[in-house]
Amino acid sequence: MYNNKEIQKKGFIDWEIDKKIDLHTEIRKMCKEKNAIILAHYYVDSKIQDVADYVGDSLGLSQQAANTDADIIVFAGVHFMAETAKILSPHKKIIIPDLKSGCPMADSMPAEAFEEFLKDYPDHVVVTYVNTTADIKALSDITCTSSNAKEIIDSLPREQKIVFGPDKNLGGYINSITGREMVLWDGLCIVHENFSAERLKTLKKEHDDAIVLAHPECNKEVLSYADVIGSTAKILNFTKESSNNKFIIATEPGIIHKMKEANPDKIYIPLPPKNPHMLMSICRNMKKHTIKKVYNALKFEQPEVILEDELIRKAKKPIERMLEMGK
Ligand code: 13P
Ligand code: SF4
Repeated sequence: MYNNKEIQKKGFIDWEIDKKIDLHTEIRKMCKEKNAIILAHYYVDSKIQDVADYVGDSLGLSQQAANTDADIIVFAGVHFMAETAKILSPHKKIIIPDLKSGCPMADSMPAEAFEEFLKDYPDHVVVTYVNTTADIKALSDITCTSSNAKEIIDSLPREQKIVFGPDKNLGGYINSITGREMVLWDGLCIVHENFSAERLKTLKKEHDDAIVLAHPECNKEVLSYADVIGSTAKILNFTKESSNNKFIIATEPGIIHKMKEANPDKIYIPLPPKNPHMLMSICRNMKKHTIKKVYNALKFEQPEVILEDELIRKAKKPIERMLEMGK
């Protein structure tokens, strides 16, 4: 019924679902029948997080994708995450509920331009953030995520020169805590760059008992006010383990769903963006996935992530090197 061109154009399967259907129950039923699992990132809609088999950060999601026995993975995250799952599990069917869920940071690093850039740094090791396309991974020596970036950089000899990209905020933060001078690609995440240090200062005055938790993709000024800096999983775990009751959250507010689930009585204040008319800085791409799209994607097993074998072979090496290090 749906040819690939139509799906490519629209990004998802637009099948009218009977309103009487309980989507959560039906999705779980289909997962069992098809030996499928749903992997979701913390930033996606809470209904998807609730129906997922696993919700996690980029590292956790790639570890799950590499180790699952399922035949089908429905990946509710941005495109590079689903692509990483395909690279790690090439014989499995990887389905993404909305193909157009891209990551502007990953798109800010086109492979041709990066190849040209690397010509100026022939003796540098190429470390890339996992927020990149498969083409960029194929040009990399090792990948990292926000939860293992420091560990990966620390594992390289001190005298080793390094090129890092695409996120200059994460790269700058890693330079500051490791004392390295990595050459940085000029990319960033608009969602995290947009958090306002001014509004953070005001919030800290109003809530002097709150702990500030920030993702390293945030701009430098915001990071300078943070008490804890780390990946989404690290931020979430901190709120679970801390005896404190109030937190200012400087990352995409989708993660607050899991925080509230674990500790409903604690207070979580999402840091607002620079634009004074906006209350939150949202990742519109993560929010493209809906529970309806998850249902249709699982039912029709489309849109599927397809990559050429040669690209998978090349892009797999730096990701496997990263995963090996974590063992
Ligand atoms: P995490 O790996 O910390 O979940 O970050 C992924 C991401 O895209 C943050 O913007
Ligand atoms: Fe990409 Fe930023 Fe969205 Fe993360 S929050 S997926 S880096 S656009």
